[in-house]
Amino acid sequence: MKVLVIGSGGREHAITWKLSQSELCTKIYVAPGNAGTEEEPKTENIDFRAEDLEGLLSFAKNQEIDLTIVGPEAPLVSGLIDLFEENDLLCLGPNKLAAQMEGSKIFMKDVLKKGNIPTADYEVFSDPLLAKKFLENCEIPIVLKADGLAGGKGVIVAFSREEALEALNSLMVDKKLGSAGDILVIEEFLEGEEASFIVLCDGESIVPLASSQDHKQRDDGDEGPNTGGMGAFSPTPLIDEEYNKKILDEIIQPTLDELKRRKIVYKGFLYAGLMINKEDIKVLEYNCRFGDPETQPILMRMKSDFLDLCFKAARKELHNQSIEWDDRFALGVVMASKGYPEKYETGFPISGIFEESSYVKVFHCGTKKELNEIRSDGGRVLCVTGLGDNLNDAFNITYKATSKINWEGAFYRRDIGKRKQ
Ligand code: AMP
Ligand code: GLY
Repeated sequence: MKVLVIGSGGREHAITWKLSQSELCTKIYVAPGNAGTEEEPKTENIDFRAEDLEGLLSFAKNQEIDLTIVGPEAPLVSGLIDLFEENDLLCLGPNKLAAQMEGSKIFMKDVLKKGNIPTADYEVFSDPLLAKKFLENCEIPIVLKADGLAGGKGVIVAFSREEALEALNSLMVDKKLGSAGDILVIEEFLEGEEASFIVLCDGESIVPLASSQDHKQRDDGDEGPNTGGMGAFSPTPLIDEEYNKKILDEIIQPTLDELKRRKIVYKGFLYAGLMINKEDIKVLEYNCRFGDPETQPILMRMKSDFLDLCFKAARKELHNQSIEWDDRFALGVVMASKGYPEKYETGFPISGIFEESSYVKVFHCGTKKELNEIRSDGGRVLCVTGLGDNLNDAFNITYKATSKINWEGAFYRRDIGKRKQ
Protein backbone atom coordinates (compact mmCIF):
# COMPACT_ATOMS: atom_id res chain seq x y z
CA MET A 1 0.00 0.00 0.00
CA LYS A 2 1.29 3.50 -0.86
CA VAL A 3 0.70 6.02 1.91
CA LEU A 4 0.94 9.80 1.99
CA VAL A 5 1.57 11.37 5.42
CA ILE A 6 0.99 15.12 5.68
CA GLY A 7 2.98 17.20 8.17
CA SER A 8 6.53 17.75 9.37
CA GLY A 9 6.65 17.36 13.15
CA GLY A 10 7.44 14.75 15.78
CA ARG A 11 3.92 13.37 15.43
CA GLU A 12 4.42 12.77 11.73
CA HIS A 13 7.82 11.17 12.30
CA ALA A 14 6.27 8.76 14.82
CA ILE A 15 3.38 8.02 12.45
CA THR A 16 5.82 7.34 9.59
CA TRP A 17 8.07 5.17 11.77
CA LYS A 18 5.12 3.04 12.89
CA LEU A 19 3.54 2.77 9.42
CA SER A 20 6.85 1.65 7.93
CA GLN A 21 6.83 -1.41 10.21
CA SER A 22 3.64 -2.70 8.59
CA GLU A 23 3.93 -5.49 6.06
CA LEU A 24 1.06 -3.88 4.19
CA CYS A 25 3.21 -0.82 3.54
CA THR A 26 5.20 -0.59 0.33
CA LYS A 27 5.96 3.15 0.18
CA ILE A 28 5.47 6.24 2.36
CA TYR A 29 5.65 9.79 1.08
CA VAL A 30 5.84 12.52 3.73
CA ALA A 31 4.87 16.09 2.82
CA PRO A 32 7.10 17.85 3.69
CA GLY A 33 8.57 15.66 6.48
CA ASN A 34 11.89 16.31 8.23
CA ALA A 35 15.39 14.79 8.51
CA GLY A 36 14.00 11.99 10.68
CA THR A 37 11.13 10.87 8.45
CA GLU A 38 13.53 10.63 5.51
CA GLU A 39 15.62 8.06 7.36
CA GLU A 40 12.75 5.61 7.87
CA PRO A 41 12.55 2.53 5.63
CA LYS A 42 10.42 2.79 2.46
CA THR A 43 10.07 6.54 3.06
CA GLU A 44 10.65 9.60 0.90
CA ASN A 45 10.04 13.25 1.75
CA ILE A 46 8.28 15.32 -0.87
CA ASP A 47 8.44 19.07 -1.20
CA PHE A 48 4.84 20.08 -0.56
CA ARG A 49 3.71 22.15 2.40
CA ALA A 50 0.80 20.83 4.44
CA GLU A 51 -1.26 23.89 3.40
CA ASP A 52 -0.78 23.29 -0.33
CA LEU A 53 -4.03 21.37 -0.77
CA GLU A 54 -4.08 21.48 -4.60
CA GLY A 55 -0.43 20.40 -4.88
CA LEU A 56 -1.03 17.52 -2.48
CA LEU A 57 -4.13 16.48 -4.37
CA SER A 58 -2.37 16.31 -7.72
CA PHE A 59 0.55 14.42 -6.15
CA ALA A 60 -1.81 11.87 -4.57
CA LYS A 61 -3.68 11.41 -7.85
CA ASN A 62 -0.54 11.06 -9.96
CA GLN A 63 1.08 8.58 -7.59
CA GLU A 64 -2.16 6.63 -7.05
CA ILE A 65 -1.82 6.92 -3.27
CA ASP A 66 -3.89 4.28 -1.45
CA LEU A 67 -4.27 6.15 1.84
CA THR A 68 -3.53 9.70 3.00
CA ILE A 69 -3.07 10.39 6.71
CA VAL A 70 -3.18 14.02 7.87
CA GLY A 71 -1.17 15.06 10.94
CA PRO A 72 -1.77 18.78 11.68
CA GLU A 73 -5.05 20.65 12.16
CA ALA A 74 -4.65 23.47 9.61
CA PRO A 75 -5.20 21.42 6.42
CA LEU A 76 -8.10 19.58 8.09
CA VAL A 77 -9.81 22.85 9.06
CA SER A 78 -9.18 24.12 5.50
CA GLY A 79 -11.01 21.13 4.01
CA LEU A 80 -8.25 18.83 2.73
CA ILE A 81 -10.37 15.75 3.40
CA ASP A 82 -13.37 17.17 1.53
CA LEU A 83 -11.15 17.87 -1.48
CA PHE A 84 -9.53 14.41 -1.44
CA GLU A 85 -12.86 12.63 -1.00
CA GLU A 86 -14.43 14.58 -3.86
CA ASN A 87 -11.60 13.11 -5.94
CA ASP A 88 -12.23 9.55 -4.72
CA LEU A 89 -9.03 9.35 -2.68
CA LEU A 90 -9.10 7.38 0.55
CA CYS A 91 -7.95 9.45 3.52
CA LEU A 92 -7.99 9.56 7.29
CA GLY A 93 -9.02 12.74 9.07
CA PRO A 94 -12.18 14.72 9.81
CA ASN A 95 -13.76 16.79 7.04
CA LYS A 96 -14.09 20.56 7.26
CA LEU A 97 -17.34 20.52 9.24
CA ALA A 98 -16.07 17.94 11.75
CA ALA A 99 -12.69 19.69 12.11
CA GLN A 100 -14.53 22.66 13.62
CA MET A 101 -14.16 20.74 16.88
CA GLU A 102 -10.69 22.31 16.89
CA GLY A 103 -11.19 25.13 14.38
CA SER A 104 -13.84 26.94 16.41
CA LYS A 105 -13.96 27.00 20.21
CA ILE A 106 -17.55 28.29 20.03
CA PHE A 107 -18.63 25.37 17.87
CA MET A 108 -16.89 22.91 20.19
CA LYS A 109 -18.36 24.43 23.36
CA ASP A 110 -21.83 24.40 21.81
CA VAL A 111 -21.50 20.70 20.92
CA LEU A 112 -20.52 20.01 24.54
CA LYS A 113 -23.37 22.08 25.95
CA LYS A 114 -26.07 20.57 23.71
CA GLY A 115 -24.66 17.09 24.24
CA ASN A 116 -24.73 17.54 28.04
CA ILE A 117 -21.02 16.84 28.25
CA PRO A 118 -19.17 18.19 31.30
CA THR A 119 -17.02 21.25 30.53
CA ALA A 120 -16.19 24.66 32.02
CA ASP A 121 -19.06 27.21 32.14
CA TYR A 122 -18.53 29.88 29.51
CA GLU A 123 -19.81 32.97 27.75
CA VAL A 124 -19.18 34.13 24.18
CA PHE A 125 -18.28 37.77 23.36
CA SER A 126 -17.93 39.61 20.09
CA ASP A 127 -18.10 43.10 21.65
CA PRO A 128 -14.95 44.11 23.56
CA LEU A 129 -16.92 46.48 25.81
CA LEU A 130 -19.27 43.74 26.98
CA ALA A 131 -16.30 41.40 27.49
CA LYS A 132 -14.56 44.09 29.57
CA LYS A 133 -17.64 44.53 31.73
CA PHE A 134 -17.77 40.79 32.30
CA LEU A 135 -14.08 40.60 33.21
CA GLU A 136 -14.42 43.47 35.70
CA ASN A 137 -16.85 41.44 37.76
CA CYS A 138 -16.00 37.76 37.20
CA GLU A 139 -14.18 35.39 39.53
CA ILE A 140 -10.41 35.16 39.09
CA PRO A 141 -8.57 33.13 37.73
CA ILE A 142 -10.42 33.25 34.43
CA VAL A 143 -9.65 31.79 31.00
CA LEU A 144 -9.86 33.65 27.66
CA LYS A 145 -9.91 31.69 24.42
CA ALA A 146 -9.76 33.05 20.88
CA ASP A 147 -12.45 31.36 18.80
CA GLY A 148 -10.28 30.49 15.77
CA LEU A 149 -7.08 28.52 15.21
CA ALA A 150 -4.15 30.34 16.78
CA GLY A 151 -1.26 27.89 16.67
CA GLY A 152 -1.44 27.20 20.41
CA LYS A 153 -1.35 30.91 21.34
CA GLY A 154 -5.09 31.46 21.62
CA VAL A 155 -5.65 30.51 25.27
CA ILE A 156 -4.77 32.80 28.16
CA VAL A 157 -5.22 31.71 31.74
CA ALA A 158 -5.35 34.99 33.71
CA PHE A 159 -4.46 34.87 37.39
CA SER A 160 -5.30 38.54 38.03
CA ARG A 161 -7.94 40.96 36.75
CA GLU A 162 -5.23 43.15 35.20
CA GLU A 163 -3.87 40.17 33.29
CA ALA A 164 -7.37 39.31 32.06
CA LEU A 165 -8.04 42.87 30.84
CA GLU A 166 -4.63 43.01 29.18
CA ALA A 167 -5.33 39.73 27.38
CA LEU A 168 -8.69 41.04 26.24
CA ASN A 169 -7.05 44.15 24.80
CA SER A 170 -4.36 42.25 22.98
CA LEU A 171 -6.82 39.74 21.47
CA MET A 172 -9.84 41.91 20.66
CA VAL A 173 -8.52 45.45 20.32
CA ASP A 174 -4.90 45.07 19.18
CA LYS A 175 -5.84 41.91 17.18
CA LYS A 176 -2.59 40.20 18.12
CA LEU A 177 -3.89 36.96 16.61
CA GLY A 178 -5.73 38.58 13.71
CA SER A 179 -9.29 37.45 13.05
CA ALA A 180 -8.89 34.41 15.37
CA GLY A 181 -9.58 36.88 18.20
CA ASP A 182 -12.73 38.49 16.71
CA ILE A 183 -14.87 36.39 18.99
CA LEU A 184 -13.82 35.21 22.44
CA VAL A 185 -14.89 32.42 24.70
CA ILE A 186 -14.41 33.42 28.32
CA GLU A 187 -14.64 30.44 30.61
CA GLU A 188 -14.44 29.28 34.18
CA PHE A 189 -10.99 28.23 35.45
CA LEU A 190 -10.86 24.50 36.17
CA GLU A 191 -8.55 22.87 38.68
CA GLY A 192 -7.07 19.40 38.55
CA GLU A 193 -4.61 17.40 36.46
CA GLU A 194 -4.72 17.37 32.67
CA ALA A 195 -4.76 14.19 30.63
CA SER A 196 -5.11 13.44 26.94
CA PHE A 197 -7.61 10.87 25.73
CA ILE A 198 -7.39 10.15 22.03
CA VAL A 199 -9.68 7.87 20.04
CA LEU A 200 -9.74 6.66 16.46
CA CYS A 201 -13.14 7.00 14.77
CA ASP A 202 -14.41 5.63 11.46
CA GLY A 203 -17.63 7.65 11.39
CA GLU A 204 -19.51 4.94 13.29
CA SER A 205 -17.24 2.97 15.64
CA ILE A 206 -14.65 4.20 18.13
CA VAL A 207 -11.39 2.58 19.20
CA PRO A 208 -9.71 4.24 22.18
CA LEU A 209 -5.94 4.65 22.12
CA ALA A 210 -3.77 4.40 25.23
CA SER A 211 -4.11 7.34 27.64
CA SER A 212 -1.37 9.92 28.01
CA GLN A 213 -0.33 13.14 29.67
CA ASP A 214 1.35 16.15 28.07
CA HIS A 215 3.35 18.94 29.75
CA LYS A 216 2.24 22.18 28.15
CA GLN A 217 4.28 24.78 30.05
CA ARG A 218 7.84 25.45 28.97
CA ASP A 219 9.60 25.18 32.33
CA ASP A 220 9.99 22.66 35.13
CA GLY A 221 7.21 22.63 37.72
CA ASP A 222 4.69 23.70 35.04
CA GLU A 223 6.02 27.25 35.00
CA GLY A 224 6.56 29.62 32.09
CA PRO A 225 4.56 30.17 28.91
CA ASN A 226 2.32 27.63 27.21
CA THR A 227 3.93 25.67 24.39
CA GLY A 228 2.83 23.02 21.89
CA GLY A 229 3.93 20.46 24.50
CA MET A 230 7.32 19.81 26.10
CA GLY A 231 6.98 16.09 26.78
CA ALA A 232 4.45 13.34 27.33
CA PHE A 233 4.08 9.87 28.73
CA SER A 234 1.70 6.94 28.34
CA PRO A 235 -0.28 5.48 30.03
CA THR A 236 -1.32 7.90 32.73
CA PRO A 237 -2.25 6.47 36.13
CA LEU A 238 -4.92 9.21 36.27
CA ILE A 239 -7.11 7.14 33.95
CA ASP A 240 -7.86 3.68 35.28
CA GLU A 241 -10.29 1.21 33.75
CA GLU A 242 -13.29 2.78 35.45
CA TYR A 243 -12.35 6.26 34.22
CA ASN A 244 -11.62 4.86 30.78
CA LYS A 245 -15.19 3.61 30.54
CA LYS A 246 -16.62 6.78 32.06
CA ILE A 247 -14.77 8.94 29.52
CA LEU A 248 -15.98 6.81 26.62
CA ASP A 249 -19.60 6.65 27.84
CA GLU A 250 -20.04 10.16 29.22
CA ILE A 251 -17.74 12.23 27.01
CA ILE A 252 -16.60 10.68 23.73
CA GLN A 253 -19.77 8.83 22.68
CA PRO A 254 -22.13 11.73 23.54
CA THR A 255 -19.83 14.08 21.60
CA LEU A 256 -20.03 11.91 18.50
CA ASP A 257 -23.80 11.50 19.00
CA GLU A 258 -24.24 15.26 19.16
CA LEU A 259 -22.18 15.67 15.99
CA LYS A 260 -24.26 13.01 14.29
CA ARG A 261 -27.41 14.85 15.35
CA ARG A 262 -25.97 17.78 13.39
CA LYS A 263 -25.38 15.43 10.43
CA ILE A 264 -21.63 15.62 10.94
CA VAL A 265 -19.69 12.38 10.55
CA TYR A 266 -16.41 12.24 12.45
CA LYS A 267 -13.65 10.15 10.93
CA GLY A 268 -10.04 10.23 12.13
CA PHE A 269 -8.31 10.92 15.41
CA LEU A 270 -10.30 12.82 18.03
CA TYR A 271 -8.31 14.20 20.93
CA ALA A 272 -10.05 15.17 24.18
CA GLY A 273 -8.01 17.32 26.54
CA LEU A 274 -9.45 16.54 29.97
CA MET A 275 -9.23 18.13 33.40
CA ILE A 276 -9.43 15.42 36.04
CA ASN A 277 -9.90 15.92 39.76
CA LYS A 278 -11.36 13.86 42.58
CA GLU A 279 -14.92 14.99 41.88
CA ASP A 280 -15.21 14.89 38.13
CA ILE A 281 -13.78 14.84 34.64
CA LYS A 282 -14.39 17.83 32.37
CA VAL A 283 -13.43 18.57 28.77
CA LEU A 284 -10.93 21.42 28.41
CA GLU A 285 -10.64 21.21 24.65
CA TYR A 286 -11.02 19.00 21.63
CA ASN A 287 -8.43 18.66 18.88
CA CYS A 288 -9.27 17.15 15.51
CA ARG A 289 -6.03 15.15 15.23
CA PHE A 290 -3.48 13.04 17.02
CA GLY A 291 -1.56 14.91 19.78
CA ASP A 292 2.01 16.12 19.54
CA PRO A 293 4.02 14.98 21.53
CA GLU A 294 1.48 12.38 22.79
CA THR A 295 1.70 10.41 19.52
CA GLN A 296 5.36 9.61 20.15
CA PRO A 297 4.95 7.66 23.45
CA ILE A 298 1.58 6.23 22.39
CA LEU A 299 2.92 4.73 19.16
CA MET A 300 6.04 3.45 20.96
CA ARG A 301 3.62 1.25 22.94
CA MET A 302 1.41 0.12 20.05
CA LYS A 303 1.87 -3.53 19.11
CA SER A 304 -0.92 -3.72 16.51
CA ASP A 305 -0.40 -2.95 12.83
CA PHE A 306 -0.93 0.83 12.67
CA LEU A 307 -1.41 0.96 8.91
CA ASP A 308 -4.08 -1.73 9.09
CA LEU A 309 -5.87 0.31 11.79
CA CYS A 310 -5.70 3.56 9.82
CA PHE A 311 -6.86 1.80 6.66
CA LYS A 312 -9.81 0.26 8.49
CA ALA A 313 -10.72 3.60 10.06
CA ALA A 314 -10.69 5.29 6.65
CA ARG A 315 -12.89 2.50 5.23
CA LYS A 316 -15.39 2.45 8.11
CA GLU A 317 -14.26 -1.01 9.23
CA LEU A 318 -13.31 -0.38 12.86
CA HIS A 319 -16.25 -2.29 14.28
CA ASN A 320 -15.05 -4.71 17.00
CA GLN A 321 -11.46 -3.70 16.38
CA SER A 322 -9.13 -3.46 19.37
CA ILE A 323 -5.51 -2.44 19.79
CA GLU A 324 -2.76 -4.41 21.47
CA TRP A 325 -0.44 -2.40 23.72
CA ASP A 326 2.98 -2.95 25.23
CA ASP A 327 2.47 -3.01 29.03
CA ARG A 328 5.51 -0.85 29.55
CA PHE A 329 5.46 2.92 30.05
CA ALA A 330 6.71 5.25 27.32
CA LEU A 331 8.00 8.74 28.00
CA GLY A 332 8.99 11.41 25.48
CA VAL A 333 11.13 14.49 26.23
CA VAL A 334 10.99 17.38 23.78
CA MET A 335 14.30 19.14 23.08
CA ALA A 336 13.68 22.71 21.94
CA SER A 337 15.54 25.74 20.58
CA LYS A 338 16.50 28.60 22.91
CA GLY A 339 13.73 31.19 22.81
CA TYR A 340 10.88 28.76 22.02
CA PRO A 341 7.86 29.26 22.14
CA GLU A 342 8.71 32.82 21.12
CA LYS A 343 11.51 33.78 18.72
CA TYR A 344 14.31 31.29 18.18
CA GLU A 345 17.17 30.64 15.79
CA THR A 346 17.60 27.53 13.65
CA GLY A 347 20.33 25.93 11.55
CA PHE A 348 22.59 24.62 14.36
CA PRO A 349 24.25 21.24 13.83
CA ILE A 350 23.01 18.59 16.26
CA SER A 351 25.47 16.23 17.92
CA GLY A 352 24.97 12.99 19.79
CA ILE A 353 22.01 11.40 18.03
CA PHE A 354 23.17 7.94 18.94
CA GLU A 355 22.42 4.44 17.75
CA GLU A 356 18.85 3.68 18.67
CA SER A 357 17.63 0.54 20.37
CA SER A 358 14.33 -1.28 20.63
CA TYR A 359 13.50 0.81 23.69
CA VAL A 360 14.71 4.30 22.73
CA LYS A 361 13.81 6.27 19.64
CA VAL A 362 14.74 9.84 18.71
CA PHE A 363 11.79 11.35 16.87
CA HIS A 364 12.57 14.49 14.87
CA CYS A 365 10.18 17.45 15.24
CA GLY A 366 12.01 20.26 13.47
CA THR A 367 15.18 19.17 11.68
CA LYS A 368 16.69 19.26 8.22
CA LYS A 369 19.66 17.54 6.64
CA GLU A 370 22.30 19.75 5.05
CA LEU A 371 25.58 18.44 3.64
CA ASN A 372 25.00 15.17 5.45
CA GLU A 373 24.59 16.93 8.79
CA ILE A 374 21.39 17.11 10.83
CA ARG A 375 20.53 20.69 11.83
CA SER A 376 17.85 22.28 14.01
CA ASP A 377 14.97 23.66 11.96
CA GLY A 378 12.17 24.55 14.35
CA GLY A 379 11.15 25.50 17.89
CA ARG A 380 10.63 21.92 18.96
CA VAL A 381 13.51 20.00 17.43
CA LEU A 382 13.59 16.43 18.78
CA CYS A 383 11.44 14.21 20.98
CA VAL A 384 13.54 11.51 22.63
CA THR A 385 11.21 8.68 23.61
CA GLY A 386 11.97 5.63 25.74
CA LEU A 387 10.20 2.57 27.13
CA GLY A 388 10.58 1.29 30.70
CA ASP A 389 8.89 -1.22 32.99
CA ASN A 390 7.50 1.64 35.06
CA LEU A 391 7.34 5.41 34.72
CA ASN A 392 10.55 5.86 36.67
CA ASP A 393 12.49 3.45 34.43
CA ALA A 394 11.10 5.14 31.33
CA PHE A 395 12.20 8.47 32.83
CA ASN A 396 15.75 7.28 33.49
CA ILE A 397 16.17 5.60 30.11
CA THR A 398 14.84 8.60 28.19
CA TYR A 399 16.81 11.24 30.10
CA LYS A 400 20.04 9.26 29.78
CA ALA A 401 19.61 9.27 25.99
CA THR A 402 18.54 12.94 25.96
CA SER A 403 21.62 14.06 27.88
CA LYS A 404 23.89 12.84 25.06
CA ILE A 405 22.31 15.09 22.43
CA ASN A 406 23.17 18.76 22.03
CA TRP A 407 23.26 21.82 19.78
CA GLU A 408 23.77 25.49 20.43
CA GLY A 409 20.88 26.72 22.57
CA ALA A 410 19.20 23.33 23.11
CA PHE A 411 17.01 23.05 26.21
CA TYR A 412 14.48 20.63 27.68
CA ARG A 413 12.41 20.14 30.81
CA ARG A 414 13.95 17.88 33.45
CA ASP A 415 10.70 16.77 35.06
CA ILE A 416 8.58 15.06 32.39
CA GLY A 417 6.48 12.40 34.14
CA LYS A 418 7.44 13.64 37.61
CA ARG A 419 4.14 15.23 38.58
CA LYS A 420 2.67 13.91 41.79
CA GLN A 421 -0.04 11.47 40.71
P1 AMP B 1 -6.35 24.57 25.12
O1 AMP B 1 -5.60 25.06 23.92
O2 AMP B 1 -7.81 24.86 25.14
O3 AMP B 1 -5.96 23.18 25.49
O4 AMP B 1 -5.70 25.35 26.35
C1 AMP B 1 -4.32 25.37 26.57
C2 AMP B 1 -4.06 25.11 28.03
O5 AMP B 1 -4.68 26.13 28.82
C3 AMP B 1 -4.65 23.81 28.56
O6 AMP B 1 -3.83 22.74 28.28
C4 AMP B 1 -4.77 24.13 30.02
O7 AMP B 1 -3.51 23.98 30.67
C5 AMP B 1 -5.14 25.58 30.04
N1 AMP B 1 -6.61 25.74 30.12
C6 AMP B 1 -7.48 25.80 29.10
N2 AMP B 1 -8.75 25.94 29.55
C7 AMP B 1 -8.67 25.96 30.89
C8 AMP B 1 -9.63 26.06 31.95
N3 AMP B 1 -10.95 26.21 31.69
N4 AMP B 1 -9.19 26.01 33.22
C9 AMP B 1 -7.87 25.88 33.50
N5 AMP B 1 -6.92 25.79 32.55
C10 AMP B 1 -7.30 25.82 31.26
N1 GLY C 1 -0.13 18.00 22.92
C1 GLY C 1 -1.01 19.04 22.65
C2 GLY C 1 -1.53 19.07 21.30
O1 GLY C 1 -1.26 18.20 20.47
O2 GLY C 1 -2.28 19.99 21.01
